[in-house]
Amino acid sequence: MTSTAKKVPIPRNGVDYRGKIVLAPMVRSGECPSRLLALKYGADLVWGPETIDKALIGTTRHENPTTKTVDFTRQSSNGAKNPAINADQRESVIYRLHPEREGRRLIYQIGTSNPETAVEAAKLVAPDVAGIDVNAGCPKPFSTIGGMGAALLKTPDKLCSILSALVKEVGEPNEIGISVKIRILETEEETKALVTKLCATGITGLTVHCRTTPMRPRERAIRDQLRMVADVCREAGVACLMNGDVASREEAVGLISEYGVDGAMIATAAETNPSVFRTKPEGGKAPWEEVVKEYVKTAIEVENRWGNTKYLLGQMIPGKQPAYKAMMATKSYSDLVKVLDYQEEFGEMAKDVDKRLDIGEFEKPKLTKAERKAAAKQAEKEKEPQRTPTAAGIKRTADAAELDMPPDVARDRGPASVPEQASALAV
Ligand SMILES: Cc1cc2nc3c(=O)[nH]c(=O)nc-3n(C[C@H](O)[C@H](O)[C@H](O)COP(=O)(O)O)c2cc1C
Repeated sequence: MTSTAKKVPIPRNGVDYRGKIVLAPMVRSGECPSRLLALKYGADLVWGPETIDKALIGTTRHENPTTKTVDFTRQSSNGAKNPAINADQRESVIYRLHPEREGRRLIYQIGTSNPETAVEAAKLVAPDVAGIDVNAGCPKPFSTIGGMGAALLKTPDKLCSILSALVKEVGEPNEIGISVKIRILETEEETKALVTKLCATGITGLTVHCRTTPMRPRERAIRDQLRMVADVCREAGVACLMNGDVASREEAVGLISEYGVDGAMIATAAETNPSVFRTKPEGGKAPWEEVVKEYVKTAIEVENRWGNTKYLLGQMIPGKQPAYKAMMATKSYSDLVKVLDYQEEFGEMAKDVDKRLDIGEFEKPKLTKAERKAAAKQAEKEKEPQRTPTAAGIKRTADAAELDMPPDVARDRGPASVPEQASALAV
């Protein structure tokens, strides 16, 4: 490749994916503290968890002075469970980002099957992120039934119209890049035809997950189409990231040069231990104890939802360790820092966060079903007319994601109730 190679221009507020080793989009596992930790350990860019367009539409942008985050929130029907909590706390966070620490290294991944709603949603976050990525790879029925995710691989014209609309109406005015994440198709010819079409939409980047839609996460990624995808992208001037079974920065560097791609994306390896992004000279992969402590600190700092923190710790602490069982029994950040022996350093902070999140000793008494019903009715009466969330409009982050249940139900269920295979989702 020469320096005169074609390159789709990278907009002023956007970012070039070339030469980058990045954190993959992960519903539930890619929330704010996970991304901050990946960046701390050297990830060059981070993708947020897929968030559906209809979930974002209708949210309000808040700057949170305590956590220094930007929160996109909407009023939660969950608030009706306990009318004693104030209006602020009834707002549920649909998307949280940290401008100071994520800066222009965050890519927002959107779930969509429609150019208009994609544009409407993307416009809301565009000023706060470095790029918008369209998920065209999720094989789960909750995505494909709505025509989203991997279903878009079967409707390439629709996918192209979504990308073109985003490029024109969101990318250009905000001066950020638009990209897409796909899976390989059954044959090299099919994949080539698809990638060629996608590259003509004005996108700046394309990630290829080297598995076909029916493949399960445990099946080894197939790399025999990768060189071709890299060539098609290079020809069009679009940056190409590879994804699938990349375990560390060192491995990524080797694969990038072996297959001629521009960068690599890591998911499951980083979910368990985000220090996989660290170079060998900087220390390489860190012991779980070190990473878990950093994670707890970060989760407290950004007031991460307790259920999500506990779920992630379940991925990061090896199941055979006594700390795993002890962690699983905790019900608040204060409990957690006690059992993990961080009390002295983080005890005060943990208590403050518990108070703000209404958990542990600050948890409000639960209402009976009848009381909940009455409160919901009352809240309904008081509420101004607002958009009714549809099934597709329910945000699939955190506990709601793979479980395919409404966030309010998911929120009440601890990670212990999460099926073991939930994180084995190959989206
Ligand atoms: C818990 C979890 C959640 C995921 N969520 C998303 C998602 O929101 N969007 C997406 O495009 N892919 C998602 N994926 C797929 C990953 O981004 C990635 O393509 C896949 O895991 C393969 O990479 P790996 O072999 O490094 O794990 C998810 C994967 C996991 C394990």
